[in-house]
Amino acid sequence: MAIKKMDAKAFIEEKIDYLKESVGREKAIVALSGGVDSSVAAVLAHKALGERLQAVFLDDGLMRQGEGEEVKSVFAKLGIDLSIKDVQREFFDALKGLIDPEEKRKAFRDTFYKALGIVVKESQAKFMIQGTIKADVMETKRGVKTQHNVLEQIGVDPSKYGLKILEPLVELFKPGVREVGRVLGLPAEISERMPFPGPGLATRCVGECTPERIEIVRKAHVIVEDEIKKAGLKPFQAFAVLLNDRGTGLDAEGNRNFGNIVVVRSIESKDALTGTATDVPMPVLKKISERVVAEIPSVTRVLYELTGKPPATIEYI
Ligand code: XMP
Repeated sequence: MAIKKMDAKAFIEEKIDYLKESVGREKAIVALSGGVDSSVAAVLAHKALGERLQAVFLDDGLMRQGEGEEVKSVFAKLGIDLSIKDVQREFFDALKGLIDPEEKRKAFRDTFYKALGIVVKESQAKFMIQGTIKADVMETKRGVKTQHNVLEQIGVDPSKYGLKILEPLVELFKPGVREVGRVLGLPAEISERMPFPGPGLATRCVGECTPERIEIVRKAHVIVEDEIKKAGLKPFQAFAVLLNDRGTGLDAEGNRNFGNIVVVRSIESKDALTGTATDVPMPVLKKISERVVAEIPSVTRVLYELTGKPPATIEYI
């Protein structure tokens, strides 16, 4: 549903009733990722359930820089107490040695629900609120890729994890979600944020996701977002990707370095179903390239991706 401004209020009221009726006197939990969808779902659920909602941030080690603390402070301002649970080891253990994109997605999903199952048991919540949106469901149905949150399509039985899932945003595309976020009073730093996938930086790390390789993607992402913003560009998504290949370069002392290759991806899209590469001005790309190789010594090459969607997908796994 492409939601119009005047519809957002009615949508919110309808979903508040739905959440109240579904959860009754029980407790619910929402896992925040820092992305727009889960944040909007959390604020909506908090409006419906108040103290009966527990918000958690599973720190899986695959988030953007400073994400946990930033989300915590934004939600504190909205009166929502967020607990951060460090589950980095579980995720890196599960991803160890995996190269195949779908195997990585499945490992992420299984670890995510296992970790969440433990938090849910501790909290005694019976329901979990998820920010699944329409595009997630469509992509999984079409067999493009296994979005981690489309449970029935991927054969996950939530009751195995002690959860009943509620998905209040599942009729909306991204612009509708942003509109609901704005009407709910979510600050622009969250509601206008670029989409960020559930499996986080793992979707931008081709090959094995070790803590060291993820750190390269994380640092490169900061530079890409920073320079794109400084240039006044507002693409649908812009990010860095680490390839599973190497290229020769020279380090600061002039020694040969068979280093990492980073791809810069910037894409224009309305609903994430199709997209085209942004016409990023060359001086901006050069600045990104200079900063990435200077600030991340293991990187020797930076490329800009021109492929649209289709044929490529937006993320790399
Ligand atoms: P793709 O790569 O399929 O991405 O062209 C389409 C949009 O979805 C985001 N994306 C995900 N979001 N869980 C999510 O919550 C996922 O597993 C996932 N995979 C991709 C991607 O960032 C883009 O906006």
